[in-house]
Amino acid sequence: MSSRVQENVSGIHVVKSYVQEENEENSFLELNIDYFRNKMKMVRIMGALFPLMGTLGGIGTLIILWQGGRMVILGEISLGDFVAFNGYLALLIWPSIALGWIFTLIQRGLASFERICEILRENPTIADNPETLPVEKISGELELRDLNFSYPAKQNGNNSSIEVLKNINLKISKGEFIAVVGRTGAGKSTLAKLILRLLEIEEGRIFIDGIDITKIPLNVLRKSIGYVPQESFLFNATIRENIAYGIEGNGLEGNNDYMIERASAIADLSKDVENFPKRFETLIGERGINISGGQKQRISLARTIILPASVLVFDDPLSSVDADTEKAILERIKEMARGITTIFITHRIPSIKDADRIIVMENGEIREIGTHEELMALSGTYYDLYNQQLLIEELEEV
Ligand SMILES: Nc1ncnc2c1ncn2[C@@H]1O[C@H](COP(=O)(O)OP(=O)(O)OP(=O)(O)O)[C@@H](O)[C@H]1O
Ligand SMILES: [Mg+2]
Repeated sequence: MSSRVQENVSGIHVVKSYVQEENEENSFLELNIDYFRNKMKMVRIMGALFPLMGTLGGIGTLIILWQGGRMVILGEISLGDFVAFNGYLALLIWPSIALGWIFTLIQRGLASFERICEILRENPTIADNPETLPVEKISGELELRDLNFSYPAKQNGNNSSIEVLKNINLKISKGEFIAVVGRTGAGKSTLAKLILRLLEIEEGRIFIDGIDITKIPLNVLRKSIGYVPQESFLFNATIRENIAYGIEGNGLEGNNDYMIERASAIADLSKDVENFPKRFETLIGERGINISGGQKQRISLARTIILPASVLVFDDPLSSVDADTEKAILERIKEMARGITTIFITHRIPSIKDADRIIVMENGEIREIGTHEELMALSGTYYDLYNQQLLIEELEEV
């Protein structure tokens, strides 16, 4: 019930914009009635329990009085013994009730404790293991070899899987700028996550500098790869804290004002920040100001490009930014990323026309690879996508 309330409060805009207030109220009412019924059942049981306990106690006293009285009358025990017995019995009542209560408390505690232990005992599936090699640095040569990937799925209780990537073979040399395009659901984000080992793969599928990534220490791998996820996530903190998030523990602590300003300039944030009430110290999120989707994406971008990396993976980082701004930011990223292997996933093909190579993905496979000119000459998927996009951009300008 509380999760329903939480969902409704945080999703209030959706509820209102779809005019679902009444529906939500009704389903909440149903929940309440359900809760009320269950609670009433419990109250009934509790209500019966106490009188029952009282009655049993009363009957017990009655038996003692009857049997004890008889024994006193028959002279088997003295009246003093009987009174003393009753006194001790009275003293015992409360401790025995408390004991029962403590037992239920312990039992409830144990159930919760067991659940906590279960979580704590769980080993991460993606972790370093004895086969991990003592790699310290990555230079940025990438190879994908016969890469297949399926997400595990549960259907009707059976374990099945959905094949998302099929037979991906690709070599990327150090410093190359690779653009990845393809229709929605083609498997682009999955590919990015696999390179970062955010999803687990089989051995011998992805190599960096010729080393199987399942044998590279995880922290080395993730420190060396700068990654901007498709869904930006920011903390309820200041803009500065958000951008400088990865700096701590990376040996870059100290006065990083210059780095923050440079990263913001590359991400085209400087003007936005100028307009915020406290510039970089402005709080964002629930406790601060609300920012636009594009601003969110650009802060998330700045958080990545502020860090040194040997490989950069951008997963459609500028989808909420207009086409011209995206182009300008891309120019600066390219300038900055000279010599760094870069994989740039995007939906906006005209922005990545001059990438070293463009990968076109379709249904989990690499359909076409080449430069813009080569792919246009093929008159295939890329050609279609590109012309569609040009049309969209022209329409936007009108
Ligand atoms: N966590 C998941 N569990 C199961 N299936 C998933 C999961 N994530 C993605 N998929 C499926 O994998 C396929 C590829 O998804 P992916 O996110 O890689 O596509 P994409 O090319 O990045 O699409 P987009 O352009 O919309 O971002 C989709 O069919 C999707 O339904
Ligand atoms: Mg995606």
